[in-house]
Amino acid sequence: MLVPAQKILSRALKGRYAVGAFNTSNLEITQGILEAAKKLCSPVILSTSLKAIRYAGGPDVFVAMVRELLKKYRVPVSLHLDHATDLLLVKAAITAGYTSVMIDGSHLPFRKNVALTKAVVRFAKKRNVSVEGEIGVIGGSEDYIRSKKILLTTPQDARAFVRATGVHSLACAVGTAHGRARGQREYVDLHLVRAIARAVRIPLVLHGASEGISQDEIRKAIGLGVSKVNIDTDIRLAFTEALRVTLKDKSVYDPRTVLSSAREAVMETVVEKITLFGSVRKA
Ligand code: 13P
Repeated sequence: MLVPAQKILSRALKGRYAVGAFNTSNLEITQGILEAAKKLCSPVILSTSLKAIRYAGGPDVFVAMVRELLKKYRVPVSLHLDHATDLLLVKAAITAGYTSVMIDGSHLPFRKNVALTKAVVRFAKKRNVSVEGEIGVIGGSEDYIRSKKILLTTPQDARAFVRATGVHSLACAVGTAHGRARGQREYVDLHLVRAIARAVRIPLVLHGASEGISQDEIRKAIGLGVSKVNIDTDIRLAFTEALRVTLKDKSVYDPRTVLSSAREAVMETVVEKITLFGSVRKA
């Protein structure tokens, strides 16, 4: 069943667990994620970036695929647009049937970020779609989103931003970065997570939670108010590593054989994450 992320995340915040937002770009990754969710009876958020949407051929392709798959995988799922930077893309995704969007105005000055995010909230709320905003700058790179530096979110900015925009959930910069770990230490500033959670009292979103972030820090951050944890890189690594292993055998040339092992690897990774985030049997 496709549901607004807010429905899943408000329960998670109350229950002090987090729901995984897993990035997908094709059928097999989507199946791997849904298979894990079904196995553990967990809600999940299927996240797609602009690049993934372009790769698939448009937001309607994901909507149709996920709706069909959900006839088989009967768990609460939110279809989410990750890191949109303009209203046009948000409107296209929502019109196609997405149930959650992130508007990322973090590269803009505060006032412009508020104005853009407010416009998205106005459009989305009328259509019962959840909105995630971002304040502060999460470092690293993911598809078209890139930043060398991390600019930690302050609790004051977080409170002012949430009040001014009415977002349902908030992505904040607390020490993690998107993409592969590149030598610089990544961490979760737990004092900051606690202070932001007290300042805003809405579900917090932890971006850049793959590779290099300790499981203990993730668990503690969830206990403090992180209700959505984003995973992209670990899924890409699992998928491509499985492909490399299978393709070593030159006699294999059936795409279904090759992709089945990658799909299985995604499923195993997502099972680990769901278990870590504590959303087992929360569907
Ligand atoms: P990772 O690249 O660390 O998996 O982060 C993904 C993310 O935050 C998607 O928005």
